[in-house]
Amino acid sequence: MTAPDRITIARPDDWHVHLRDGDMLSGVVNATARQFSRAIVMPNLAPPVTTIAAGKAYRDRIMAALSKDLTFTPLMTAYLTDGADADEIIGGFNQGVFAACKLYPANATTNSSHGVTDISKISGVLEAMQKAGMPLLVHGEVTDPHIDIFDREAVFIDRVMSGIAKDFPELKVVFEHITTSDAADFVASAGPNIAATITPHHLAFSRNAIFQGGIRPHYYCLPIAKRETHRLALRKAATSGSAKFFLGTDSAPHDITRKENACGCAGLYNSPFAIESYAKTFDEENALDKLEAFASLNGPDFYGLPVNPGRMVLERRPSDVPKTVAAGPHTLVPFMAGEISPWTFTGFEN
Ligand code: DOR
Ligand code: ZN
Repeated sequence: MTAPDRITIARPDDWHVHLRDGDMLSGVVNATARQFSRAIVMPNLAPPVTTIAAGKAYRDRIMAALSKDLTFTPLMTAYLTDGADADEIIGGFNQGVFAACKLYPANATTNSSHGVTDISKISGVLEAMQKAGMPLLVHGEVTDPHIDIFDREAVFIDRVMSGIAKDFPELKVVFEHITTSDAADFVASAGPNIAATITPHHLAFSRNAIFQGGIRPHYYCLPIAKRETHRLALRKAATSGSAKFFLGTDSAPHDITRKENACGCAGLYNSPFAIESYAKTFDEENALDKLEAFASLNGPDFYGLPVNPGRMVLERRPSDVPKTVAAGPHTLVPFMAGEISPWTFTGFEN
């Protein structure tokens, strides 16, 4: 069967994005809202979003920055700390302010210094979340400096994730931005309450890209891209049709001067061509018929939300990805900068 040149999918959502704040927020939020109806918004601001008041205030800033011609619903998350208060967290969930909690192991990544130092510190909160049906979103990497950076996700499964699954068997857990076959296997064989997001970039390149002819900071993110066998396992999981895997871009913009730097920040900015980059992968895997489930159905199903009205149209038509884009005073280098995207998002239809 020849692959189609035009497909439509229910309007997708992004189940993991960094919208930032301040003078970067408006450029970034509108790039996301152009494609996605809803997004799970990461709370790793400085200071992090830990209270209901902070979650509401951040949501207001996002809505104020949104272009009037776009419809978009930010789904806010609470950042877990060692001192997280179960009443505040569950109160925020019950009031519709927080859709989920984010677990950053302390110092695992950008703005995670207030993260959790030991999972035992938050067992009361996890217990309350399990009871309330509030999802836990996990950055799954150990921070033990003795563990090789390429092994941190696999070791996290053994040291932390399997314990969470065992001790809180009903807790809804999203293993965020998985990068290894180990994580894909763990999620596939776990119960239906454990799912995973997969980014467009971890589907597109392996760790070789970070070192192709020199050091390439725009391919650096956390968890770091792994070897090719892992990338192939992620492509298999994403295109498998399993309801446990869904779209989460982990779009994480940093100003060009903070990426092209002797100590460059982790994160790729992929929002401008997010759905196009997923479409490219699914097309290459002869699995365009599985894109809708991954991008638009599995996430709402897991979060207990309705599928979005309206259909997104994607056409097999080349688009130039710009070398840079502006976000307020910031210059950002998007994922696929300077390349030609074989797919183009052309609009919505009913
Ligand atoms: O590469 C990343 N960038 N990984 C993360 O976990 C955080 C993110 C950021 O906020 O910059
Ligand atoms: Zn992230």
